[in-house]
Amino acid sequence: MYFIYFNEFGEEYRAEFRPYEYHNLMELLFDKYIEEWGDCKGRAWCGTCHIQILEGHISETVDSDERNTLSILSNVTGESRLACQIPVTSALDGIVFKILKDDGI
Ligand code: FES
Repeated sequence: MYFIYFNEFGEEYRAEFRPYEYHNLMELLFDKYIEEWGDCKGRAWCGTCHIQILEGHISETVDSDERNTLSILSNVTGESRLACQIPVTSALDGIVFKILKDDGI
């Protein structure tokens, strides 16, 4: 399975994954592709793992911690999510997203 993401410079990458290989999307990307994010280690507090879904749908609902953190970030869109709150399941297969690279909170 794979997904496509655009980094902060607009460069496109294809990332392979296996469902449940990691707890969440932030951990997967941190371990394999992106070093400078995930400051709060997945607690939905820092906002450094801010992404915008471009294609596909993430079914998990946004909980209050994620909603509160997103409300403070500067470049939130209707499709914004925190990657640390998205489980690595087959639902990620084929999605496309952009890393918004907030400085965090
Ligand atoms: S890692 Fe801090 S909000 Fe996601």
